[in-house]
Amino acid sequence: MLVPEVENALNKQLNAEIYSSYLYVSMAAQCKADDLDGFAAWLETQAQEEMTHAAKFYNFIIQRGGRVKLAGIDAPQVEWETPLAVFEDTLAHEQKVSAMINDLMEIAIDQKDHATQIFLQWFVTEQVEEEESVGMVLGKIKRVKDSAQGMYLLDQELGQRQPQLLPGTTTAAE
Ligand code: FEO
Repeated sequence: MLVPEVENALNKQLNAEIYSSYLYVSMAAQCKADDLDGFAAWLETQAQEEMTHAAKFYNFIIQRGGRVKLAGIDAPQVEWETPLAVFEDTLAHEQKVSAMINDLMEIAIDQKDHATQIFLQWFVTEQVEEEESVGMVLGKIKRVKDSAQGMYLLDQELGQRQPQLLPGTTTAAE
């Protein structure tokens, strides 16, 4: 049983995770337009992972007897000037999502909803990892600066990213 405050907050986060996926697809499209296929592949994988996050909220709301209420997804930004701008915005977005998860946790604590608190712990840990991985890419872009060869090698490296499987699953979408 979910109280309305928690159910609404979980639905809001479900929307935010889908928006995150939408945003990263838009960033990937910008990288594709710039012939940075490795950057694009990294962001496409990130977008897929965001949909697995959304699926976790979807499943949890239903499991707790709540009602999933889908809302409109805001249109993401379409153009970025540079890969540096893409990853600065990615880090800023992940920091925003971390704050949203913290706010959601506060609501669950206020409502004494222990099951939701335990569910959200996975996301608290995940956000630490997401900020770290995005920060590492951002750091590499800054080190490469304007070196065409450096960008070529970084593009190759980012294209190697493999989807992260959720614990206990065999496919990223499960
Ligand atoms: Fe699902 Fe990147 O936060």
